[in-house]
Amino acid sequence: MLRWIISPETRDLRDAPEFTAAVSALRSGQLVAIPTETVYGLGADATNPQACAGIYAAKGRPSFNPLIAHVPSLEEAEKHGRFDARARRLAEAFWPGPLTLVVPRRAESPVCDLATAGLDTIALRVPAARIMRDLSCAAGCPIAAPSANRSGRISATTADDVIEDLGQHIAVVIDTGPTPVGVESTIVALTDDVPRLLRPGGLSRGDIEAILGEPLKRTGADDEAPAAPGMLSSHYAPNARLRLDAQNVRPGEALLAFGLPLPPGAERAVAVESLSETGNLVEAAARLFTALRKLDASGASAICVMPVPCEGLGEAINDRLARASAPRP
Ligand code: TXA
Ligand code: MG
Repeated sequence: MLRWIISPETRDLRDAPEFTAAVSALRSGQLVAIPTETVYGLGADATNPQACAGIYAAKGRPSFNPLIAHVPSLEEAEKHGRFDARARRLAEAFWPGPLTLVVPRRAESPVCDLATAGLDTIALRVPAARIMRDLSCAAGCPIAAPSANRSGRISATTADDVIEDLGQHIAVVIDTGPTPVGVESTIVALTDDVPRLLRPGGLSRGDIEAILGEPLKRTGADDEAPAAPGMLSSHYAPNARLRLDAQNVRPGEALLAFGLPLPPGAERAVAVESLSETGNLVEAAARLFTALRKLDASGASAICVMPVPCEGLGEAINDRLARASAPRP
């Protein structure tokens, strides 16, 4: 495994020999860990079924769970999916950025059936992170990339997280440091009359509704057929049990804090991580997965979590916390 550390001063990534190595790894069907602004992705050539099978195998992911195809531009995205006026408005407003659009798939798209899990829709995203867009251009393919963690586990927001979970399966790990947004992209489906929020994420519902001019319908796991198959009960699971909306810290628990003051019993917590001392939801989203990983490593049998308001990015944070605390299969 090659680890390519990119510093913020690096000007043209495409000049580096590691870039060439990553491109040939993608072209030959190997896996490359690629940072985006949300979380690290486990990337492969989305048109190569063997490469995509490698993603499912490495993650231990149920193969019915489709992958997001990352492309460099809306123009490229339109080769794979059909964008109506609403989809185009959202793409123009928020791409590149933490938004994934699920649209009807074009029959002529070369993205393989394994990547879309055989659905007649496709999830597309133009990430803000330049490296993903540059790699897609240079390799000449959309890049299928789920979050670079083992299936059902906490998403990876640093290259160390990726290597710990999946290092032995990956040809090149690209390391740009901690991801700035910290939770996955927001997923919106524009496949029928009503625009649907399939997964809250790094772009808030309010920002999207302002551009759409209509409310998003939340499609949850309680619907008969979950529209984002990945969004099933237990996910993002640490080893420790999670206790949400905690008003106090019980003996033996670690504390995931949000804001101040800390709740009674905090002084005897096994470990404490704060999402944001000032109650800032953007900072909290960026720290969420790293904080969960650290508290899990403390060996506490349970993690109690202070309440986080459900506005703005709080919707995505609460969604991930609810899944992390869900009963395990
Ligand atoms: O921020 C992100 O979105 C990250 C980075 C790497 O881009 N990726 C990510 O991928 O979170 P993943 O595979 O962990 O989550 C993708 C979600 C899954 O829940 C999957 O079921 C859903 O997208 N999805 C993919 N294609 C879909 C489709 N055609 N219809 C509905 N849901 C779809
Ligand atoms: Mg994931």
